[in-house]
Amino acid sequence: MDASLDGRVIAIAGAAGGLGPTVVRRLSGAGSTLCLCGRERAKLEDLATEAGAHADVDVVDLLDPEAARGWAAALAERHGRIDALVHLVGGWRGGTPIEEAPLEDWGFLADLLVQTVQHATQAFAPHLLESGRGRFVIVSSGQAQAPTHTNAAYAAAKAASEAWTLALAHRFKGTGATANVVVVGAIVAPEMRAEDPDKDFSTFTPAEEIAEAIAYLCSDAAASMNGQRLTLRGAV
Ligand SMILES: NC(=O)c1ccc[n+]([C@@H]2O[C@H](COP(=O)([O-])OP(=O)(O)OC[C@H]3O[C@@H](n4cnc5c(N)ncnc54)[C@H](OP(=O)(O)O)[C@@H]3O)[C@@H](O)[C@H]2O)c1
Repeated sequence: MDASLDGRVIAIAGAAGGLGPTVVRRLSGAGSTLCLCGRERAKLEDLATEAGAHADVDVVDLLDPEAARGWAAALAERHGRIDALVHLVGGWRGGTPIEEAPLEDWGFLADLLVQTVQHATQAFAPHLLESGRGRFVIVSSGQAQAPTHTNAAYAAAKAASEAWTLALAHRFKGTGATANVVVVGAIVAPEMRAEDPDKDFSTFTPAEEIAEAIAYLCSDAAASMNGQRLTLRGAV
């Protein structure tokens, strides 16, 4: 067992999506207590069972700030501490030329990718500060720094969620807590490789590498890394 996360209480938001299961498997082997949230209980429970994880499962809609605060308070009550929040809530809209892009996409993505980060950080920051070694991690896209025009709304939302996270890192400065961004390309999870073994995923970022980066950022080995973008995109 990798003991570097032994005893930590790690919350994972959006745990049952494309990336979440790989992260859950990685962290569940590291001695931490995992607290999984999403909007569908059955998916989260199946994931916890499959990963053999010592995990809580909570249904939480992070678009609701009170639900986010309630989740953080419940975890702190249950476990006496919260050491990390890994934010994996995701979704995508785009694909049309910028002059035709429906601006409703911006509203949808700003809610999903920015507001859920804002609600989660406001709910969890006091607990992460109290931990003494609190960690906050988001997974962002290369689009935030180098947008393509058919992804304008997505890129703008990811850029805003990065800026919010870097501002949180400024709040955490000198406290022992950290906030960082893992920047990736399109993600390939083991389930995707199994479903389509002949597909060329060579330009994708492997979910296993992202999970490793998250495990590192949550550990004491990354105690001095705060307000950074850790980029896993190959030579781009
Ligand atoms: N996939 C990629 O290629 C890619 C590329 C770059 C960056 N990223 C980022 O990496 C992270 C993980 O990506 P992913 O592909 O795993 O994301 P995803 O599968 O699209 O979404 C992850 C989970 O977010 C949950 N979610 C959605 N709205 C929510 C809400 N209001 N409250 C709580 N949970 C909510 C969903 O849970 P339910 O199923 O329960 O609704 C879903 O399972 C995301 O932040 C994403 O933006 C992904």
